[in-house]
Amino acid sequence: MDNVKIAIDGYSSCGKSTLAKQLASQLGFLYIDTGAMYRAITLYALRNNIMYRDGTPDVEMLREHIKNIKVSFQRMSNGNMHTMLNGEDVEKNIRSVNVSRHVSAISKIDFVRTEMVDLQRSLAKDFSVVMDGRDIGTVVFPDADLKIFVTASPEVRAQRRYDELIAKGEEVSFEEIFENLKARDKADSTRTVAPLRKADDAVLLDNSEMTVDGQFQFALKLVQDLPAYKQLNK
Ligand code: DC
Repeated sequence: MDNVKIAIDGYSSCGKSTLAKQLASQLGFLYIDTGAMYRAITLYALRNNIMYRDGTPDVEMLREHIKNIKVSFQRMSNGNMHTMLNGEDVEKNIRSVNVSRHVSAISKIDFVRTEMVDLQRSLAKDFSVVMDGRDIGTVVFPDADLKIFVTASPEVRAQRRYDELIAKGEEVSFEEIFENLKARDKADSTRTVAPLRKADDAVLLDNSEMTVDGQFQFALKLVQDLPAYKQLNK
């Protein structure tokens, strides 16, 4: 029987991963957070002085290192997936403001994307998956059974991200978060390799005015109506 592939793409901090995790858990599918992979490479680059002072990466040095960078996921006893970098649990480290600040510069490098896209496809090979990112419906799985493109206004997204970081005890200002988010939106959607864009056949989900449960129910219904999903549950 064929596995079901669900692609969830969208802007930074739009609630994609919340939705993707909820769907995966409800459906019993594997959840893959592709942003975490680019963040892990960025953390590696920061730790190994592959970044210049101006925040741009030394691309040739990264090219030499790339084959030695192993990104993987490990399921914790509470069911959550943690991101591993060469065997180390970096789930918390990759969410820092410093990694967020540098990740766009890393994720636009072509050989980084090639490596990560290969890894994403191989992780999903034998499973039904919910995968979230920027290019899942356009590049990684152009034949996904369902594509959802999530969006919300920049102000709403920045507020959500700010609340999340404050709750974690990080010292950040709303302005800093808002500026980083706008910069990442611009970098993600204007880069030459795999820019963020809605696939023509993706469903647009603007959740600016929606509750978390409202968007979950909306997406769940889309999955339940899929012929491929019905087939899986026959
Ligand atoms: O989803 P996120 O904010 O954790 O993603 C971090 C960065 O990685 C984001 O700024 C863009 C990049 N990214 C990407 O280029 N392609 C993906 N499939 C996922 C994330």
